[in-house]
Amino acid sequence: MALFQDGVILLEPDGKIRLIDSDAAEILGLTPETVAGQLLSEIWPEPALHKLQQQLAEGKPQAESEFVSTALKKQKTLSLRLGPLPASETPGQLLLVRDLTAVRRLETIERDFITNVSHELRTPLTSIKMAAESLQMGAIANEKLKARFLSNIQREADRLTRLLNELLVLSNVSGAETPLHLSSFELAGLVEDVMSTMTPHARVNDIELVCEAPDSLPEMLADRDRLLQVLINLVDNAIKCNRPNGSVTLRAATEGETVIFQVVDTGIGIPSLDLPRIFDRFFRVDKARSRVTGGTGLGLSLVKDIVESHSGTIDVESTINVGTTFTMRLPLKTPVEADDDTA
Ligand SMILES: Nc1ncnc2c1ncn2[C@@H]1O[C@H](COP(=O)(O)OP(=O)(O)O)[C@@H](O)[C@H]1O
Ligand SMILES: [Mg+2]
Repeated sequence: MALFQDGVILLEPDGKIRLIDSDAAEILGLTPETVAGQLLSEIWPEPALHKLQQQLAEGKPQAESEFVSTALKKQKTLSLRLGPLPASETPGQLLLVRDLTAVRRLETIERDFITNVSHELRTPLTSIKMAAESLQMGAIANEKLKARFLSNIQREADRLTRLLNELLVLSNVSGAETPLHLSSFELAGLVEDVMSTMTPHARVNDIELVCEAPDSLPEMLADRDRLLQVLINLVDNAIKCNRPNGSVTLRAATEGETVIFQVVDTGIGIPSLDLPRIFDRFFRVDKARSRVTGGTGLGLSLVKDIVESHSGTIDVESTINVGTTFTMRLPLKTPVEADDDTA
């Protein structure tokens, strides 16, 4: 169904359904055959609809409203427009129904994202400015203070770089036509790179990072840099969503022509309600916590884009306060067509 398709319902003057098209039926979760002839207000007791009908009865030529309907099986943002049928037709009313749930949700996500990015940019910038000011005001003469402020500047600049990189990669990957740079490389080397990049990070966070892989792993044909990014993203999440003294296990194995990566953690888990949205752009389970850890909610959406551009799949299983497992399956040799796959 098109995003802006209006569903159409024709009503008798007394409010009974004369006709309902499939779009309207789908939006309201009704079966067209069984509802014809019934009072709409009875099968859909929506206060907003009642109000519109009242406004028309009071002589308004047309009435419309946008509202969140809770009287449906699933909560939806709807827009309704109600008016009389043209005088030439049999008397009755025309009701147009539009489902704005997805549009409004996207708008909210976008707004939240801009708020977040602004916040993420402002915090390091403020720290950098404060450190520079302190140095200027005399701290530069004190070796200890000088070292501290300079390393603050460095750390905050690194944070800004990370954020900008994520944003750039996002616009690249979602800019459809960024080809994969396929090359042959040793799978074992890739795993080693992830381990050596993330081990210091795990240690600082009191997390044990473990690698489980067979003694010998084959070569792989894929975009090495992007896969490295995917694994680092998953391990980074597993570290930051963990419990103190928890562990993260990176598993790599092959099954026929498929490479299977798993990132297993002993962390806070993801509520089952949130699992379906975990790969959505900008989605974060806990915004407050994510702000502290510097998250943008972009990581997993990038991960999914990259995995799919390799003709692979990614799944997640999670139990609250027990842990989360991400499982990725990728072809050992990325099909070349995947290279220019713009889907
Ligand atoms: N291993 C995990 N355990 C628990 N929650 C996770 C895990 N990985 C991701 N999440 C949740 O999914 C959200 C989205 O992850 P991601 O897209 O990487 O964004 P970010 O890390 O920037 O917050 C995180 O904010 C977190 O709430
Ligand atoms: Mg992340």
